[in-house]
Amino acid sequence: MNELNTPKPLHEQVSSRDGANVSIWQPGFQPAPSKEYSSQNEVFDVLIVGGGITGLTAAVQLQELGKAVVIAESHTIGYGTTGGTSAHINTFADTTYAEVEQDFGKESAQLFAKAIQEAVTTIKTNAATYRMDCDLESKDAYVYAEDESQWKELDSLYESALRAGVEAHTVSQSPLNIPALKVIHFPHQAQFHPLKYIGGLRKVFEALGGVVLEHTRIEEIKQENDLHKARSGDQVIQAKAVIYATHIPPGGINALHFLNAPYRSYVLAVTLEDEKYPDALIYDMQEPYHYFRSHVIEGQRYLLIGGNDHKTGHDDPQAAFEALEHYTRQHFKVKEVAYQWSSQYFVPSDGLPYIGKMPGSPAGIYTATGYNGNGMILGTIAGKILSDLIAGKDNAYADLFDPRRVKPLAITPEAVKENVDVAYHFIADRLSTEELDSLKEVPFDTGMIAKISGKKVAVYKSPTGEIHTLSPVCPHAHCFVNWNASEKSWDCPCHGARFSPQGEVLTGPARKDLEKLNLP
Ligand code: FES
Repeated sequence: MNELNTPKPLHEQVSSRDGANVSIWQPGFQPAPSKEYSSQNEVFDVLIVGGGITGLTAAVQLQELGKAVVIAESHTIGYGTTGGTSAHINTFADTTYAEVEQDFGKESAQLFAKAIQEAVTTIKTNAATYRMDCDLESKDAYVYAEDESQWKELDSLYESALRAGVEAHTVSQSPLNIPALKVIHFPHQAQFHPLKYIGGLRKVFEALGGVVLEHTRIEEIKQENDLHKARSGDQVIQAKAVIYATHIPPGGINALHFLNAPYRSYVLAVTLEDEKYPDALIYDMQEPYHYFRSHVIEGQRYLLIGGNDHKTGHDDPQAAFEALEHYTRQHFKVKEVAYQWSSQYFVPSDGLPYIGKMPGSPAGIYTATGYNGNGMILGTIAGKILSDLIAGKDNAYADLFDPRRVKPLAITPEAVKENVDVAYHFIADRLSTEELDSLKEVPFDTGMIAKISGKKVAVYKSPTGEIHTLSPVCPHAHCFVNWNASEKSWDCPCHGARFSPQGEVLTGPARKDLEKLNLP
C-alpha cells in the first residue's frame, strides 16, 4: 500500500462542514461511505433533502413506518449546522415559555414544553434502543442572572417554565465561579456528540433499507401528476412526498425566508490549567447570552463556551472570536484554545419554529426551519412531526408549529427590523465599495468586494495566489454577499445563503452558485 492509499489514523480524519474552521466534532468522524445507487425508475415514498438531525430523524421514523425513503445531501451527512452545533439538549428554549404564553396562550406554552420534552426523550430513547456510541450524558442545567434586570427576566423565565409544566428550582449558586444574583436549576437535561448521533441514525436508516445519496445537490423539483421529480445533474429522483430538511428551504423566494433571520454563533473548545471543567450545561442572561459545557474527546476534557452571536453577513467574525476568547480568559484559566468555529441558526419571527407543509408549494412538500439556537431538540421534534404528517398520523404539535400560521401580533419588532435590514443591505451594499487598480492588491487567502474597471466583483485570492472572481450578487434574491474572513466564505446578509471562496453553495436558501466572472 503506498502512502496515498494508507488510511489516516482515526484522529487525523476530519469530516467536512460548511466552513473553514474545524469544529470539535469533525476530527475522527468519517461518515459511512455512500452505497452505490443507480435506479432512475424507482418511485420513493419520500425524498428528504438534507442529511442533518431533522432529515435523519424523519428518515428513520418513516422507514420504520414502512415507507421507502431516500436522503439526498448535497455534501456529506452532518455538513450543515448539525456538525457545528454545541449540542445542548434542554427542556427549555431560546424563546421562553413566557414569550410563547404571551403570544400564543398558556396552553400553547404547555404544548411547546411537551414537544421539547418529547424531543429530549426521543434522543435518549434512540441512543438506548439502537445502542449508539454517541457520548450521550444526562446533565443538570443552570441559568444565572448577574444584575437586577437579568434577575427580573430570569424570574419570568422560571415562573413561566413552572406554569408550562417544566421542572425547575431556584438554587443558591451555579457550578461556575462567576458571581450570580439568582440561579435556576433545570434537572434532566443532556448533551451528546451530534455527528456520532446522526451517524448512528444513518446506520439504523440504512439497515432498514433506506438510501443515502451524498454529494447529490437537488437543483430543481417539478411536480408531474402526483409525483415530485427532483433533478441532480443527470439523475432524477422520483418521490410522492418531499421534505426540505435543509435548515431553511432552498430555491425561489418563499415567505419563510422573510420570517426567519440568519444568525451566527461562535464556539471555543479550550483546555484548562486547573482542570475546573463545569459538569453541567450553564447559561448566563447577557444579550447575546454565553453558554458553557464540557465534553471529553479521546480522553481529553474540553470546556465548550459559546456566544457573541450576530446576524449573518454583519459584524466581524474574527472580532467575535476575539471577544469570546477575551471573555473566556477573564473567567477561566485557559491552557489552550484547541478549536474555534462558528455555526448558523435561524431566528423565527414569532419565536416558534415553522414545521409542516411548505407555504406556497404544491401538495406533498414539507419543511422545517426557525429553530433558533435549539436545533438539536427542535430538529428532532420536526423529524417526528413531518414523518407523522406524511404517514397520515395525528401529531399533537402540528398545528402549533404549522408554517402557514398567521399571527401578526406575535411578529416581534425585531422581525420587522430584520426585514428593514434586508432592504437596507440590498441598497447600501451596492453603494460602498473599494476601487482596485489591480487584482494583485488583494492580500493572500482573502476575499473582498471590489470595484474593478467600474464593475463590482467578489474577489478571492487563495494562499497560493490563485484569483477567483465572482459576481457578488446572491442568486437567491440579489443582495450582495460579504466576505467571512474566519470561515472563509461569502455570506449573504439578507437570508443567510453562504458560498465557498470559489462561489459554490455551502448553505441555502440559494440553490445556485455565485456566477463566475472572467475579467480581462
Ligand atoms: Fe436571500 Fe442572499 S440569501 S438574497
